[in-house]
Amino acid sequence: MLEAKRKSLMKKINVVVLAAGKGTRMHSDIPKVLHTIAGRSMLQHVLDTAGAISAGSIHVVIGHGADKLRVAMSDQPVNLVVQEPQRGTAHAVEQALPFLERDAIAVVLYGDVPLMTTESLEQLLAPVSADCMAVLTCTMKDPSGLGRILRDTNGDISAIVEERDATPEQKTIKEINTGIMAFPVARLQQWLPRITPNNAQNEFYLTDVIRLAREDGCSVATHTISDEKEAAGVNDRLQLAELERHYQWREARKLMKQGVTLRDPSRFDVRGVVDAGRDIEIDVNVICVGKVKLGDKVRIGPNCILRDCEIGEGSVIHANSVIGESVIGANCDIGPFARIRPGSELAEGAKVGNFVELKKTRMGKGSKINHLSYVGDSELGADVNVGAGTITCNYDGVNKHRTIIGNDVFIGSNTALVAPVRIADGATVAAGSVITQDVGSKQLALARAHQVNKDGWKRPVKKPK
Ligand code: UD1
Ligand code: MG
Repeated sequence: MLEAKRKSLMKKINVVVLAAGKGTRMHSDIPKVLHTIAGRSMLQHVLDTAGAISAGSIHVVIGHGADKLRVAMSDQPVNLVVQEPQRGTAHAVEQALPFLERDAIAVVLYGDVPLMTTESLEQLLAPVSADCMAVLTCTMKDPSGLGRILRDTNGDISAIVEERDATPEQKTIKEINTGIMAFPVARLQQWLPRITPNNAQNEFYLTDVIRLAREDGCSVATHTISDEKEAAGVNDRLQLAELERHYQWREARKLMKQGVTLRDPSRFDVRGVVDAGRDIEIDVNVICVGKVKLGDKVRIGPNCILRDCEIGEGSVIHANSVIGESVIGANCDIGPFARIRPGSELAEGAKVGNFVELKKTRMGKGSKINHLSYVGDSELGADVNVGAGTITCNYDGVNKHRTIIGNDVFIGSNTALVAPVRIADGATVAAGSVITQDVGSKQLALARAHQVNKDGWKRPVKKPK
């Protein structure tokens, strides 16, 4: 809702994402912008941000690794434009120019600047009109290597000078060009053909539009951000790791502000979205992947991985448990060392103990599988007790078969349930049984060899050497 409202308030925007660069310093066969932060490619982060500020078209300028980018972007609603060869940022934008709408505002984003926020872009865009463009700047402790912002005596931006073209005095300026800019497309159409490669790199610099705007009487606004990490580009794996940590810190902070206790926010990772209630406690080294929903008062022990799952109010997940694509009800007790695989659903108060693997299994209210078991393709009623070492033999090498267990069933330890099989309400299965036939309500099933005790048994004796 909020998102939709935001978009409707915005102007018509066309986004151009620059992603043709080589990324030499990554030392990688993967195009730089496909390297991931929090499980999403840097380019995806940028596209998600672009999508949040605009319902308009998105154009991605690609060059190096274009084939791999095409495959990676095949399901995305973006227009891929190839820039070959790469002759600078203005040249890159020029490739997308034929696809831009004359009455729109173009926003240039970098595919390797993944943590830019929608808030900053909205502030950048606020003053932009047919007669005003805008540049996003940042004041940096160490501005080396970046384009410096030159301002006139009124404090207005007059030009951007690249480090290589800067005088020693200009190099002392700490305010830099983030590279992110917004301009009316109609103006851009006039400016880009006028840019020449008169600089140290013999490239077409997009930064030259500042000078052209001023020549043409178009004002140039700036918005300055304070968070250096938001403007930071990734050139090597060190910077990739730094931004990953920063992203994770942002996510951790959000959760803590909502009422989640993180034992150590630097040892908590979100690779997706966490929807959390109140008074949740999360111990160290927990990773949440995809969509994870945590109810009030949930406790997650150390070293757990939660992927696309829902954990009900008051449930406890003990150390080293892995849960994926499953729904855990309220007040359940899971682990330590439990593995709950996709398609599982646990009702309130269910217990799954150590070294238990579940797959596509539903457990009724209060049912327990406490130790060393594999239960797959199964349905358990309420108050079932599954003994240690129980295995559902659900796979015949070709097909998967189901095991259906009623309410109040007791399965003795070390039982093999050869599916398809049904155990009716109130039945008991003796320990060590191999169950191949259905068991009726309240019956006792005993399916193991009879024990034989022999008197006077002589153990074999070792011969003396
Ligand atoms: C650019 C800016 C500089 C700014 C800095 C911020 C110019 C001339 N300079 O410098 O003022 O401080 O970014 O990081 O704009 N790209 C293409 N095609 C090209 C060249 C670049 O798609 O031909 C893409 C790159 O993949 C990258 C982005 O544009 O995503 C910036 O290119 P890069 O070479 O890193 O520019 P800088 O020299 O760092
Ligand atoms: Mg750069």
